[in-house]
Amino acid sequence: MQKIIIAIDGYSGTGKSSTAKAVARNLGYTYIDSGAMYRAATLYFLQQGVDLEKPQEVAKALAALDISFEGQDLILNEKVVRDELRTMAVNDQVSQVSAVKSVREALVEQQQAIGQDRGIVMDGRDIGTVVFPDAELKVFMTANSRVRALRRQRELEQKGIREELNVIEENLKQRDQIDSTREESPLTKALGAVEIDTSDLSFDEQVGKIVELAKKKI
Ligand code: C5P
Repeated sequence: MQKIIIAIDGYSGTGKSSTAKAVARNLGYTYIDSGAMYRAATLYFLQQGVDLEKPQEVAKALAALDISFEGQDLILNEKVVRDELRTMAVNDQVSQVSAVKSVREALVEQQQAIGQDRGIVMDGRDIGTVVFPDAELKVFMTANSRVRALRRQRELEQKGIREELNVIEENLKQRDQIDSTREESPLTKALGAVEIDTSDLSFDEQVGKIVELAKKKI
């Protein structure tokens, strides 16, 4: 059976990651969370106190940045990082870090190398437009911002983190705004992408829709 690339893009909190993970499991594919890679870069930049306005500092940090995957775990410079990637400090900075051209170039190159054998589901903001414009299946996920904030709040609660709904919704909107208007690879629906509004869909329904679309391409 032919292996394909499934590119899932969309706004923050539309359920891209959990959906992509379930789709990958269903098809026996590898799941790659590209957002986690940008979050890991952001965490490292915060730890090192990198000034984004200073290209030399950014270049030095990028040269020392080592991101890899072991199963579902992301390894940042030899350490597994999980909850550290989802703090509000990282949330607040990640869109600024992701807007830096050299950061995107480094991570996109790595993402393309990971996908060269196909058989992957990757989610993010520029997967169908920049990373894999030739992906056999491209999906663009949307949902209204209140629904997205509620989902994110529940997710945080499960990790023991309490955050006000308005604060979460504001952060999501702010990230959408930066992600959609940045000069480098802005978030936009890729040519040929299927748009799925998940506001009124259950998790199983959204996974089912994408698996069904994928099976038509395999
Ligand atoms: O997907 P997630 O919400 O974890 O991504 C965090 C941030 O990383 C996004 O708000 C966006 O700024 C950035 N990102 C990106 N390109 C990707 C994936 C994520 O710019 N492919």
